[in-house]
Amino acid sequence: MSVPLSLFSLEGRTALVTGASRGIGRAIALAYAEAGADVALLARSTDALREVAELVEKLGRQAVVLTCDVGEEDQVRAAVADTVSQLGRLDVLVNNAGGFGFAGPFLDLRAEDWARAIRLNLDSVVYFCRAAGRVMVRQGSGSVINIGSVSGVGGVPMLSHYAAVKAATASLTRSLAAEWAASGVRVNCVVPGWITTELTKAMSGQQEISDGLLRAVPAGRWGDPEDVVGAAVYLASDAAKLTTGSCLTLDGGMTSTIGGPTLVDLLAMGRIEV
Ligand SMILES: NC(=O)c1ccc[n+]([C@@H]2O[C@H](COP(=O)([O-])OP(=O)(O)OC[C@H]3O[C@@H](n4cnc5c(N)ncnc54)[C@H](OP(=O)(O)O)[C@@H]3O)[C@@H](O)[C@H]2O)c1
Repeated sequence: MSVPLSLFSLEGRTALVTGASRGIGRAIALAYAEAGADVALLARSTDALREVAELVEKLGRQAVVLTCDVGEEDQVRAAVADTVSQLGRLDVLVNNAGGFGFAGPFLDLRAEDWARAIRLNLDSVVYFCRAAGRVMVRQGSGSVINIGSVSGVGGVPMLSHYAAVKAATASLTRSLAAEWAASGVRVNCVVPGWITTELTKAMSGQQEISDGLLRAVPAGRWGDPEDVVGAAVYLASDAAKLTTGSCLTLDGGMTSTIGGPTLVDLLAMGRIEV
């Protein structure tokens, strides 16, 4: 049986992508437009969003620019309402805006660092799922894609606050998937490994740190934002219509190993007889 590529098409769909002004969110928004969707682009930087909107329009799709702080529930509700009034409906929501604020020892974590991590990565997802979920459940269809992180899969020293909120994102994904499945609304999580963006430039830009991080990545390289778009298009499309509650990992094999890099290094020195 052949699989028609049209299964992956987003023709006639509408999507709202948070954190669309740069990095992973920008790449997903442009891929959605290329796959046929009209896209609402959301972040705090209006000028950067306008540039992305021009690219979406060049692809022949409608773009809506939404200036919004994802940590403010009133603004989130208004952004979802604007999307529906300007694009007519809401088929896909990508909760992508996020970040860690700082990397460092747990004992240096200030109350405000913790509050900021929760607000940006978790409160925001709750606010958007509440506002967009109502629309989608009423519609009887929709796909919510939360951008998690490999940090939420295992413990991450020096990023403990971020690891905790990303683990919660995966948990919320599974609960909502089960709660909304009968309503035709799917909820999934995309779980990237190390991707070169503004968020990680302090790490990817320093050779020693970058080499150290890549020792835990069997593929041996940083991902690009474009490495994430295939999963986001798939989960938004009819190709994934039975997929809900899943976490799709794109990490060059990082979380598939336990102590892998050490053994790889040892075996590079020659065969070991036991
Ligand atoms: N890069 C990685 O290695 C990596 C790995 C795993 C997971 N992730 C996750 O992937 C997502 C995107 O990360 P990225 O690397 O693309 O980060 P990025 O380059 O820093 O982009 C973050 C985006 O979020 C927006 N944003 C930040 N705070 C916001 C707020 N309060 N309200 C509205 N928008 C806000 C930013 O736009 P404005 O500043 O204009 O608001 C920007 O568009 C995040 O959830 C991150 O945790 C990243």
